[in-house]
Amino acid sequence: MEKVMYSATQPSGALTIGNYVGAIRNWVNYQSEYECYFAMADLHALTVRQEPAALRRRTLELAALYIACGVDPERCALYVQSHVHEHAEMCWLLNCFAYVGEMSRMTQFKDKSAKHADNINMGLMDYPVLMAADILLYQTDCVPVGADQTQHVEIARDLAVRFNNLYGETFRVPQALLPASGARIRSLQDPAKKMSKSDENPNASVFLTDDRDTVIRKFKRAVTDSGDRIVQSEEKPGVSNLLAIYAAFRGVSVADAEREFEGQGYASFKLAVGETVADALAPVQAEQKRLLADKTYLAGALKAGAEKAHYAARKTLSKAYRKVGFYRGD
Ligand code: TRP
Repeated sequence: MEKVMYSATQPSGALTIGNYVGAIRNWVNYQSEYECYFAMADLHALTVRQEPAALRRRTLELAALYIACGVDPERCALYVQSHVHEHAEMCWLLNCFAYVGEMSRMTQFKDKSAKHADNINMGLMDYPVLMAADILLYQTDCVPVGADQTQHVEIARDLAVRFNNLYGETFRVPQALLPASGARIRSLQDPAKKMSKSDENPNASVFLTDDRDTVIRKFKRAVTDSGDRIVQSEEKPGVSNLLAIYAAFRGVSVADAEREFEGQGYASFKLAVGETVADALAPVQAEQKRLLADKTYLAGALKAGAEKAHYAARKTLSKAYRKVGFYRGD
C-alpha cells in the first residue's frame, strides 16, 4: 500500500521564499512517492481575526500557488479544509481525549496568546487538536513540516496512541518529516531569526509575490557581516544565509556557491543572489496569475480534491465513531 503524506498551509498571509524552499517545492517531488493530501487550512486561519474578503481571496491564491509550483491536482488531493466537514467532527472527537493542561503548555499557543492577548479564543488553544484531526483522518504516515510545527505533530502522535490504546487500532501513528537543515532560510535583516511571513520589518522577508525590483532591493539591503569573504561560517550568519538561499535556488551545494563568488565583493554577491531568486520566482508568479484568471478550473480542481479527501476522511471518522460507541443506525 502506498504511504500517505499530509500537509497544510494557512491562507493567512503572504508566503516567503522560506516556505517555498522548505516546504511547497518539496511537495512536488513527494507526489510520486506518496498518496498526498495538501490543504488550505482555513479553519486554522480563523483562530486569529481575518478580514472575510481577504481570507477568501488568499485561499484561492494559495491554491493557485500550489499548482503553479507543480502540485498536480490530478495526482493528489488539493483541497480547502472547510470543504471537508470531517475535520471539524474529528476535532471534536479528539478534543475529548486531549487535556487542557497539555494544550496550555504548547509553545505556539503561549506565543500566540502573548501576541493576541485581546483574543485568546478556544480555537487558539484547540489549534493542535484540529491539526491532529487533519493528520489522523487520512491515516497519514508522514507530515512534512517546519521545525516550529514538530510539537504539533507530537501531539497528533500522542492522541493517536492514546485513542488506539483505549479502543484498539484505529489511527496510524504519523511521523514528522523535517526539511534538510540547508533549507532553513533566515531573516535578511536579522539572520538570528527565521524568515517569517509576519516579520514587522518589510525588508526581512522575501515574499513569493514580490516583483523583481522588490526582490533585488531586499537582497541589496540584506545585512552581511564584517570582513569581505563570501564563505559559510558561524561568525558570518548573514553571508551564510545568502549562500544557503543561492544554493537552494540554483540547486548547487554551498561549497560550489562559495567557489563561484570567491574574490567578489558583497555588493555583486547580493545582486547575484537577488537576480537568481527573482529569475526563479518569475515563472511561478506568471503561472499563478494565469490560473487565477481561470476561476472555473480552480473551483473544479478544489471540488475534486475535496471529494477525494472526503472519501478517505469519512472512512476514518466512521471507524472512530464506531469505536467510541456512537449508534450508527445499523
Ligand atoms: N499549522 C500549520 C502551519 O501553520 C498548518 C497546518 C494545519 C498543518 N494543519 C496541518 C501542517 C496538518 C501539517 C499537517 O504551518
